[in-house]
Amino acid sequence: MLNENFTKADIVARYLPKKLIAAGQAEAFAPSNIALCKYWGKRQSELNLPVNSSLSISLAHLGTRTQIHPSQTGEDQVMLNGQLLPVESPFARKVVSFVGLFRRDQSYPVIIDTRNNIPTAAGLASSASGFAALTLAINQYFQLQFPDTVLSAFARMGSGSASRSIYSGFVEWRMGLQEDGMDSHAFPLDVNWPDLRVGLVKVSTAVKAVDSRSGMKRTVETASLYQSWPAQAAQDLEKIHQALSDGSFSELGAVAEHNAMSMHATMIASWPPLLYWQPDSVAAMQKIWALREAGVEVYFTMDAGPNLKLLFQEKNQALLETEFPGLEVVAPFEASESGASTTVKEPS
Ligand code: PMV
Repeated sequence: MLNENFTKADIVARYLPKKLIAAGQAEAFAPSNIALCKYWGKRQSELNLPVNSSLSISLAHLGTRTQIHPSQTGEDQVMLNGQLLPVESPFARKVVSFVGLFRRDQSYPVIIDTRNNIPTAAGLASSASGFAALTLAINQYFQLQFPDTVLSAFARMGSGSASRSIYSGFVEWRMGLQEDGMDSHAFPLDVNWPDLRVGLVKVSTAVKAVDSRSGMKRTVETASLYQSWPAQAAQDLEKIHQALSDGSFSELGAVAEHNAMSMHATMIASWPPLLYWQPDSVAAMQKIWALREAGVEVYFTMDAGPNLKLLFQEKNQALLETEFPGLEVVAPFEASESGASTTVKEPS
């Protein structure tokens, strides 16, 4: 067990200059990401240090755009998708407390304006892009110039999977070994698969009943099946690396689907049981298996929610759009705005 005494604030403080200098405004975009080898279970909860390494694909233009402006009222304000949130709302509190890790006692009241182009908290990983975009925007706003690996480790403290949303394409988050977690960050893989497609099957956009933090905790504490998870995740990660170096889509898809189902098996084996699936999720799985039987190569993965993410190649896009009406298709390696980006305006 790692030391639970390390706080996020202590760790961030080691990297900060004595006096912060704020820019006039900052804006950052970070993509959402879908894990092909999942992060499930923490070995240290304050810092979101994972039990296992994970690997994901970033969703190009789907993600979060966050702006930071100085607040003229002297109070922090948090906006989500154009709406001002009550300061006491859980989302506003999380955002303000994350900004506080960097601002500490220096008086810089800010307006944080966050926009997602994916449904919030529907298992489509908006917390990942949200904390990654916020970390990038803070880095710009306070002119910190941290390297990407440090930004990834800081984003991880907001939400584990946010460590991977700092980058585009295939991304690996190594679990790390250090007690302060600063070696637990993601890095991008040098692999390009232009014909890869990710399809979002939206079963429900309702906010999930059990968030991933509580879901992981419940699984680790109550599911004896979880004992087999770390070894399986390590093996799956190796198989995905092999699939990437062989250029084998079939292997990549099969390992990703098996990894997701194994993670869900540990959830179902928890007490009380954790079942994120709805009848339509199961119907979609059965359709995918039938399509595979019929020779169409399509695989799926699922996170802590009822929605499925399909993995397929461009050649099957038209067919799958017919089979799954309303399918939102992302081309992760498309050139237009993909991956994290930031802009900063000088103080006036
Ligand atoms: O980063 P969190 O705390 O939202 O956890 C993400 C957990 C999964 O989405 C289920 C898996 C993953 O690796 O993204």
